[in-house]
Amino acid sequence: MIHLLDDIVKNAEKEFESVKDSASLDRVKAHFIGKNGVLTKFFKQFSDFDIETKRQYGKLINEAKNKIEVLLANKKSYLQDVNISLSVSSNLIDVTLPGRGKSFGNIHPIMRTQERIEKIFRSIGFDVIDGPEIETDWNNFTALNSPIDHPARSMQDTFYLNLKDQNGLPLLLRTHTSPMQVRYASTNKPPIKVIAPGKTYRIDSDATHSPMFHQVEGLWVSKDVSFADLKGIYTEFLKCFFETENLLLRFRPSFFPFTEPSAEIDMMFTSGSNKGKWLEISGAGQIHPNVIRNFGLNPEYYMGFAFGSGLERLTMLRYGITDLRHFYENDLRFLNQIRN
Ligand code: PHE
Repeated sequence: MIHLLDDIVKNAEKEFESVKDSASLDRVKAHFIGKNGVLTKFFKQFSDFDIETKRQYGKLINEAKNKIEVLLANKKSYLQDVNISLSVSSNLIDVTLPGRGKSFGNIHPIMRTQERIEKIFRSIGFDVIDGPEIETDWNNFTALNSPIDHPARSMQDTFYLNLKDQNGLPLLLRTHTSPMQVRYASTNKPPIKVIAPGKTYRIDSDATHSPMFHQVEGLWVSKDVSFADLKGIYTEFLKCFFETENLLLRFRPSFFPFTEPSAEIDMMFTSGSNKGKWLEISGAGQIHPNVIRNFGLNPEYYMGFAFGSGLERLTMLRYGITDLRHFYENDLRFLNQIRN
């Protein structure tokens, strides 16, 4: 009897020794001390014996059972330890690895230019205003001294909408920011000193033209603002914008229906493969008396200047970019190069 029990315990030692995971632990446990386990069955054999014999054998069997339970408990805690160290080693953090790094967003070059321009003009007392991209015929053309059928309108190939304004004329995508002159000057009293940056649209597309592009309009209306002020302010603006005193600049006589006299302002590329070439960056001029009248003001008292500059063009010159279509291709290799 005692031999038998010893054998069972020895067997159990061997079996628990070979256990590798908790599933086989459960199996071995059931085999020895489960409901139908070896030891349990063994115990049942003595159910018909007298009390004294049962007590003696029961004691021995319990001792054997205790031994097996110790084996079980030891193996269980061993397996737990193994599991913990396994999971620790599989989640190891290698602190010597280089970090993944965060990629920061970047402001689009055109917006960077717009913000730079706003800052410069604010610093010399201009307000910054904003207006709609869908315009009326009056604001975009007629009020700017380009009546219907006037040949000057064909200077700007226009996108028209299938919608009419209250005069029965088709609405259009503004071809320049100049309608902001009309919007602002006819609802605000002089002195008026504003810039209006924004999107503009023309049926045009090549290395220096895009069907959607950006302009900034400048407008100063007061009692004694002349072409000399335009030249002074605009040149000063460019010096700030390009952060240099040495600008290659020319005011070339030109024509716009809404200014008289008019000029186009050209600047020379000083870097990039366009180096040495002139690029037109702005139209400008003394506001035409008819336009002052269309603002609802008396041209006998009020005068001023206006300019309209291309933000793409200014950006191209600042960074030496030769093709303006880069701005709209969203190629990060291009965009990420421009960070100041
Ligand atoms: N609106 C003109 C253009 O887009 C530029 C301009 C603005 C000219 C203001 C004169 C005065 O070409």
